[in-house]
Amino acid sequence: MLPSDHVQAFRDLLGGAGVVDDQQRLTTYTTDQRQLFTGSTVAVLKPATTKQVADVVRLAVRLGVGLVPQGGNTSYCGGATPNASGGQAIVSLERMDTIREVDSLSMSISVDAGAILKNVQDAAASAGLLLPLSLGAEGSCRIGGNIGTNAGGLSVVRYGMTRDLLLGIEAVLPDGTIVSDMRKLRKNNTGYDVKQCFVGSEGTLGIVTGAVLRLVPLPVRRATAWLKLAKDAALAELLALVRHESGELLTTFEFISARSIALATGAMANPPSVDAGPGGAILVEFASSSRHLDLDHLMEAVLSEAFESGWVEDAYLAQSGAQRAAMWELRETIPEGEKRWGGSVKHDISVPLSSIQRFLDVAGEQVRNYDADLELSVYGHLGDGNLHYNVLAPQGADRIEFTRLIEGSLSLRLYDTAAVLGGTFSAEHGVGRFKRHLLEKYGDAGRVAAMRRIKTAFDPENIMNTGAVVSLFEPESVR
Ligand code: FAD
Ligand code: MLT
Ligand code: ZN
Repeated sequence: MLPSDHVQAFRDLLGGAGVVDDQQRLTTYTTDQRQLFTGSTVAVLKPATTKQVADVVRLAVRLGVGLVPQGGNTSYCGGATPNASGGQAIVSLERMDTIREVDSLSMSISVDAGAILKNVQDAAASAGLLLPLSLGAEGSCRIGGNIGTNAGGLSVVRYGMTRDLLLGIEAVLPDGTIVSDMRKLRKNNTGYDVKQCFVGSEGTLGIVTGAVLRLVPLPVRRATAWLKLAKDAALAELLALVRHESGELLTTFEFISARSIALATGAMANPPSVDAGPGGAILVEFASSSRHLDLDHLMEAVLSEAFESGWVEDAYLAQSGAQRAAMWELRETIPEGEKRWGGSVKHDISVPLSSIQRFLDVAGEQVRNYDADLELSVYGHLGDGNLHYNVLAPQGADRIEFTRLIEGSLSLRLYDTAAVLGGTFSAEHGVGRFKRHLLEKYGDAGRVAAMRRIKTAFDPENIMNTGAVVSLFEPESVR
């Protein structure tokens, strides 16, 4: 537990607005997004400038206080949640939310790390540009959290993950040193790419305070279609066909099972009248910044080839912005639909696209063998080989107990299957506190050893988000 004079020392540094220690307000910061774990802290620290972040870090080192960086607290693996000891303070970047600059010609945006993703998207759009990072949590997640988790989302198939969008960074190392590399350069081969160390580091290597992100021309034409898949549709082959024939204009290729559609529509006020075929459904979108391309025509041509293949039974092309928005809303409401249902055990797997069908076949059999009554909600970023292979909690079951039970048994079989196929147990949600044991189990030993060395080099005092991702030492047990 932090002594109260430590909290006062942080208050002296940050002023009254910079420290929250009212127990009631603390719980929103100490409980993870999925409400699987509530940690403990005596204070949330809210610096307003990069210098204040550095001062906080230096004081924390001096006092021996652990720090947990936090953005929007929307991540899924407990990486933004302090442990139960009460010895860690949360550093929330929510007061650092300025859009510093949009440079239209360099096609970049420079922001504080506490800026909400949606606000950054909007600022880019006002300048006729697109920040091509889009996810269901965009109204509350923050750029520092997106960098911390290397967020993916719904247009990775075209634009890549957060890692691919990061041009420059400003960050505070665990001894208070400020890394100030907010350059907008596409090319800069001057040694180690330090900014990339922070991507996916989940707050364990330092606190990101600013970022420069790559923008692309804002699409003015879009064609959006909903495909009903035939039984046994060859998913990877269909994707290859669509990707090839769309001439690099494919931005989204999301798989949605019938069960996931039902969950989402159940949570929507005005659900669109779309459904799945026997093989599920695909939300596909092409986008272009050129007014001269007829994307509807292109989509129709691609879809007619898809029909010929026999993999697609039926398709609807969105006829208006409202129809397009409704299809997107359905896709983005699936997590909320699962929550309303009573929760799910999430498996954020990815495998090489060539093995996606094999994964679905083997995993389906594993689930049936485990318990034929279990229901699945399968959906996700098929274009990236990444599926959310979620097991629904049976009605009336205790969600947390069910999660523990499945994660200790069936989940490991599913992860084994992904691993055997050359895949991973966490494609986009990270490791955090909840999946450390999986990193130890499935991670390449050399890679995990390299991660430990990086952690030791950046954070020898072990103050930065201790307990998340990887420990300095080989753990006897991480769970
Ligand atoms: P937080 O949860 O606050 O933190 C995440 C991690 O980053 C923590 O380890 C934290 O310590 C660290 N961190 C936070 N800020 C900083 C900082 N300034 N410096 C250093 N480290 C920091 N994720 C996807 O990838 N794709 C999706 O499609 C997707 N969809 C989602 C849909 C919904 C409805 C929800 C609730 C979540 C979804 N997520 C998705 C997960 C989540 O939104 C992302 O992981 C997001 O990037 C987290 O951002 P955040 O600001 O909430 O980070
Ligand atoms: C999504 O793709 O919607 C999220 O990453 C998955 C989730 O929220 O479960
Ligand atoms: Zn996802």
